[in-house]
Amino acid sequence: MTLPQTFRIKSFGCQMNAYDGERMAELLGADGMRSAGDGEDADLVVLNTCHIREKAAEKAYSDVGRLRREDGSKPLIALAGCVAQAEGEEARARSKMIDMVVGPQAYHRLPQMIAEAAAGRASVDTDMPAAAKFDFLPARRRSGVSAFLSVQEGCDKFCTYCVVPYTRGAEISRPFADIVREAEELVAGGAREITLLGQNVNAWESDGRDLAALIRHLADFAELERIRYTTSHPVNMGEGLITAHAAVDKLMPYLHLPVQSGSDPILRAMNRTHTVDSYLRTIERVRAVRPDIAISGDFIVGFPGETDEDFERTLNIVDAVRYAAAFSFKYSPRPGTPAATMEDQVPQPVMDQRLARLQARLAEHSTAFNRGTVGKTTRILIDRRGRKPGQMIGKSPWLQSVVVETAAPIGSMLNVKITGAGPNSLFGAPLVRAEAA
Ligand code: SAH
Ligand code: SF4
Ligand code: F3S
Repeated sequence: MTLPQTFRIKSFGCQMNAYDGERMAELLGADGMRSAGDGEDADLVVLNTCHIREKAAEKAYSDVGRLRREDGSKPLIALAGCVAQAEGEEARARSKMIDMVVGPQAYHRLPQMIAEAAAGRASVDTDMPAAAKFDFLPARRRSGVSAFLSVQEGCDKFCTYCVVPYTRGAEISRPFADIVREAEELVAGGAREITLLGQNVNAWESDGRDLAALIRHLADFAELERIRYTTSHPVNMGEGLITAHAAVDKLMPYLHLPVQSGSDPILRAMNRTHTVDSYLRTIERVRAVRPDIAISGDFIVGFPGETDEDFERTLNIVDAVRYAAAFSFKYSPRPGTPAATMEDQVPQPVMDQRLARLQARLAEHSTAFNRGTVGKTTRILIDRRGRKPGQMIGKSPWLQSVVVETAAPIGSMLNVKITGAGPNSLFGAPLVRAEAA
């Protein structure tokens, strides 16, 4: 087979997985390939997979099957991401269509693996050298208005339900200077907002600096308008980061702080290392310095042993925090994790009911939060065109999409008054200068 000319990358996972997808695309671009257009058959397909829940992992294999072309041929196929890491050689045993298996810490080696695969040699690389990949990736060039920047990878927390410590390896922080260089490249390439990413982003540290210090440093970039970070772990929510929410204007009033459950016995069984009370106190401290902050969370229903009473406590914490946004999931047993073999697995119908009740309650709070912003004046970052002519869509500081009629271009900041709230977005009207002053 000749070397592939065109590629397509499909990312299925979290924001870090999406970030990896972008970097793989840049790497292949620098290696002389180009991204296949819409409807065009790509010579190489990279499936950038997620292993977090069973459904996500299964999707990877059904997608591989679908890559067979009508004439019986197939593109070169690379299985990348967290399923690749978790399954390694196994993946090729499950599907002979897969030519390369490359883990999230090894994808800088893709060009070499592609050359080998094109020469008929399948390869598997799931090595986990600490942070080495970043040294081999090309510089960032063009960037969207809103860019991701991975600063911390891996996880040492070992929540008993979670595969991330196994698929992403031990917690490592990228060096301060590397991050600053990448941020400079992104801003030069057009980014106005940077979201710092890590599985435990608030555990980032380098040369005695913590995440708050990094944020303060980036806030001095004149052309950078906004800074966000995700995902934080409750036990790493230090005082410096909390006060940064009051002191750094460019740090957006949004905090994603997963709690998973509102019941202490379940949190203990999950090995979360925080309690309901310590979590609520953290939220209180954050709100004391930044009363308008939007809090978002992640929840798991049906963790092994979860009783009706435990679940009611989860509804209670939802009411106590009044989340602006949330992600909620049914517990999915993952191979190799301690929770998968725990007794008292919760039956599916019970999980279904709990999830429906939880999501209804979460929706009440997010609707209330969105309605609460109607009438406010705020600034949005225009990041895409709206559906109707003349419409643009921007993000509020609280990460809501706001639809406005304006000629303001993508990448610009616009002062608006929020005039209405729909189920998925807000509506706004641009402020005339006198109003904005
Ligand atoms: N590092 C982040 C995100 C982890 S994955 C954190 O610590 O919060 C994102 C979310 O997926 C988790 O917060 C959790 O709610 C959910 N999740 C993880 N493992 C899961 C499992 N086995 N079953 C169901 N949901 C899971
Ligand atoms: Fe998974 Fe827990 Fe680590 Fe988050 S903190 S990545 S949920 S083990
Ligand atoms: Fe999925 Fe891996 Fe992210 S398992 S959630 S893609 S870290």
